[in-house]
Amino acid sequence: MSDILLHHENGVTTLTFNRLDKKNSITSDMYAFLADALVAAEADPKVRVVMFQGHETIFSAGNDIADFLHRPTSSEDMPVYRFLKAIATFTKPLLASVCGPAVGIGTTMLFHCDLVYAGDNAAFSMPFVNLGLCPEAGSSLLVPQMMGYHRAAEALLLGEPFFAEAAQEVGLVNRILPPTEVNEYARRQAKKLAAKPLASLIETKRLMKGGQQKAVIERILLEGESFGRMLNEPAAKEAFGAFMEKRLPDFSKI
Ligand code: COA
Repeated sequence: MSDILLHHENGVTTLTFNRLDKKNSITSDMYAFLADALVAAEADPKVRVVMFQGHETIFSAGNDIADFLHRPTSSEDMPVYRFLKAIATFTKPLLASVCGPAVGIGTTMLFHCDLVYAGDNAAFSMPFVNLGLCPEAGSSLLVPQMMGYHRAAEALLLGEPFFAEAAQEVGLVNRILPPTEVNEYARRQAKKLAAKPLASLIETKRLMKGGQQKAVIERILLEGESFGRMLNEPAAKEAFGAFMEKRLPDFSKI
């Protein structure tokens, strides 16, 4: 698919967001492609590591907002949930290389990655409340856990962005590099991982993450119920309408 490029080399599968004209926002078709790619990578013994990357100027503007308008409701079969389940249960190492804005799921997917490298221009944000929505991807559990409750409240209630240094300070980002160097650095790290014994990588990840996997999946589904309902409520309708009409939303009567 042209909006996501898939490349296999030396045990590393790289998935590159490639929809620059729409700031790498993610459509339903793209979620389906990502979910299928992760399921295939999980099953293929030749794949040892998966890496996500975007462009030097933008990782992803999050869910495609026009797509939100057409999402009737929420169900576990939807591509976005297939993707979330695949990323949350993926047993092999996942890396991400992030430059520029990483909005919504562009940030929340990183909480499921094992190693995250960021450009010094990276800007993380989870503006769900500003869109009349609520957290997704298990972020209502994983963000407070990693960042502490009050920093999580700043990110999730105020929806304020935070930048590469703050992300490194809380442990979301492993290393900050110039944007022109991040993808290459992450690729070298991925290659290092791919040279290690796969069974040891899988077992180590399972031991580090396994204890909470059930809780994460339960939270993703719980959030999904609220998210699906809220997509059809007046605040989200106003926020999406405002985005499409390139104006500020007005929540004063909602
Ligand atoms: N869904 C659909 N289209 C999007 C999009 C999204 N999430 N984000 C950006 N686009 C589109 C814009 O509508 C615009 O399209 P157009 O050229 O046809 O008008 C194009 O991408 C460029 O976006 P623009 O806002 O002009 O770029 P920018 O560099 O000024 O800002 C962002 C980049 C990412 C900061 C900004 O686009 C943004 O905030 N996007 C919305 C993010 C969001 O709320 N995502 C949902 C999270 S749940």
